[in-house]
Amino acid sequence: MLIDRKNIQSVSFNHATSQVEIIDQRSLPFRLEWISLSKIDEVTTSICNMSVRGAPAIGVLAAFGVYLAVQEYGVNTPAFNEACHRLKNARPTAINLAKGVNIVMNAIKEQSQTEAATKMALDTAIAFMESEIDSCKRIGENGLTLIKKIHEQTQKPVNILTHCNAGWLACVDWGTALAPIFMAHLQSIPLHVWVDETRPRNQGARLTAWELHQAGIPFTVIPDNSGGLLMQEGNVDMVITGADRITLNGDTANKTGTYLKALAAKDNDVPFYIAAPSSTFDFDTEKGVGVIPIEQRHRGEVAEMEGISPSGEIILVKIFPNEFPAMNHAFDITPARLITAIITEKGIFNANKNEISRLL
Ligand code: MRU
Repeated sequence: MLIDRKNIQSVSFNHATSQVEIIDQRSLPFRLEWISLSKIDEVTTSICNMSVRGAPAIGVLAAFGVYLAVQEYGVNTPAFNEACHRLKNARPTAINLAKGVNIVMNAIKEQSQTEAATKMALDTAIAFMESEIDSCKRIGENGLTLIKKIHEQTQKPVNILTHCNAGWLACVDWGTALAPIFMAHLQSIPLHVWVDETRPRNQGARLTAWELHQAGIPFTVIPDNSGGLLMQEGNVDMVITGADRITLNGDTANKTGTYLKALAAKDNDVPFYIAAPSSTFDFDTEKGVGVIPIEQRHRGEVAEMEGISPSGEIILVKIFPNEFPAMNHAFDITPARLITAIITEKGIFNANKNEISRLL
């Protein structure tokens, strides 16, 4: 997407240095900073510490991680396999991570020459990245039809609520939930976005709001728990969120708090859409509730808040004492029955097995 009239991606490959460049999402919205990665373990660390987060972005970065591992350890050596295993298990919920690793490992599995494997791994990772970007663009085009329809009916600015960050930062380019919003803005459809702050890490307040601000799209950051009231008051026309894993029956894992928005949307007859590329579908798993692994992150994310000090430093402050227990599930699961439809690059599908099987 365009930042200061320059087209940038959250993950990209630098051919001059053979390094992978990532935007350090931990510094936003205060500073736009990049990190260069040249080893697979640096890739794994950047996914664990959430310099890069968002299912499609970590999938693409993981694909490049395998390429870096071939360079470092040679093809299919024990050290290569161990490093790929560590990467694949860096975070458990978003299926894109394992898919990104597998795509490149499968492409090179017959190779015995490291040089040929390195080239093949890089070509595969780049092709995967390009196809993910293309999928997000198509998600935007498909989702745009829904926004357009609402605008034609109401002749008013379309109020869209979103949770977490499923914009271009989370997806290399365009985004999933935000792609239809960017497309609608480009077509001059009047919009306003309710941005859930998304505790504990505030991806909404920090990342989604920053992306919308950069694009000049009107938005308001709201506490996570305000969405229900806004829906009751008729101030939300639709909800669009991203996804980290969608099972065959349409159950969807996404950032914690998504389920509660879907419940509120159902109670208020507000359409609730999930936007995701095919790479986020887990076609081998029938249902999500009780089955999809839910990442539990450290208590510090709940007990502390990050912000900027008057001197411009990013600092952590405690919001309750160490002796207070805390729990931190990073994701929840929205049952298919609460999902109006799933916007993909291949079209808009109902959240059920028959429809989702057509994506295979
Ligand atoms: O824990 P995160 O920030 O990696 O969470 C993933 C997400 O960004 C969201 O769940 C998002 O809505 C889906 S990924 C586009």
